[in-house]
Amino acid sequence: MVLMILASPFVYYYATNELKEELIAAGRTFGTVAFILYSITLIPGIFGRFRIFNTIKAIITLFRRHIGVEAFLLAILHEAYIFTLPFVIGSGFKNFLFAITSHELLGFIALTILFPMWLTSNDFSERKLGRGWKLLHRITYIALVIIFLHIATASGSGWAYVALVMVVLELSSWIYFVLTLKKTIVPVQPPTAQTPTTPAVVEPPAPTENPTQNISASDTPTK
Ligand code: HEM
Repeated sequence: MVLMILASPFVYYYATNELKEELIAAGRTFGTVAFILYSITLIPGIFGRFRIFNTIKAIITLFRRHIGVEAFLLAILHEAYIFTLPFVIGSGFKNFLFAITSHELLGFIALTILFPMWLTSNDFSERKLGRGWKLLHRITYIALVIIFLHIATASGSGWAYVALVMVVLELSSWIYFVLTLKKTIVPVQPPTAQTPTTPAVVEPPAPTENPTQNISASDTPTK
């Protein structure tokens, strides 16, 4: 994929006009596939908040990091073939600066948001950033909304509806998760002169993104 990205300026430069049309069509397809892969990475989180633990969730969770990395690289290819290459090689850099429309700007914002997530999608960054890593990867929700706006304004294609469904699923899963948080009353020792009288309220932990923690006992196949 990285090779494809590096080779794309040469491919575009030497392409005939007919081939250039094909490359733009390919760029559109890269965007669609990038969006599909990106949406797949959101499924484990949605399932987790709805407390659905099944094989699909477990399998996606295992490959999620790789899927996300590929989604970003495809989005770069999409951007290059549909926007940068036609403008930089095709009509000059000046046109590139003046040609940006609102949906392209939204695309750039989405790519900028996805970039730090892509950069830190590895064990080293996860270890180094600690709790900050999870917080950083929460920006995926902002990226999703911007991607939805981008697709809706860019092409008005059916993928805009899929993006809207993903936004609604994300929102409703969070609402469901918060509303169904069970507060467990933990019995405390009888009050003494030093101890407070109020019982301790312990909230169950948020569904974790860690595949090994999210697969419940009921997910393991029984004979
Ligand atoms: C700098 C960033 C981006 C630019 C300049 C850009 C540009 C465009 C343009 C011009 C279109 C309209 C294509 C057409 O109908 O002729 C489009 C469509 C689309 N873009 Fe992007 N985009 C960017 C980032 C992204 C990202 C990050 C995603 C998703 C991960 C994405 C997904 C899509 C999808 C799914 C479509 C609809 C394709 C179709 O109609 O089949 N784009 N984009």
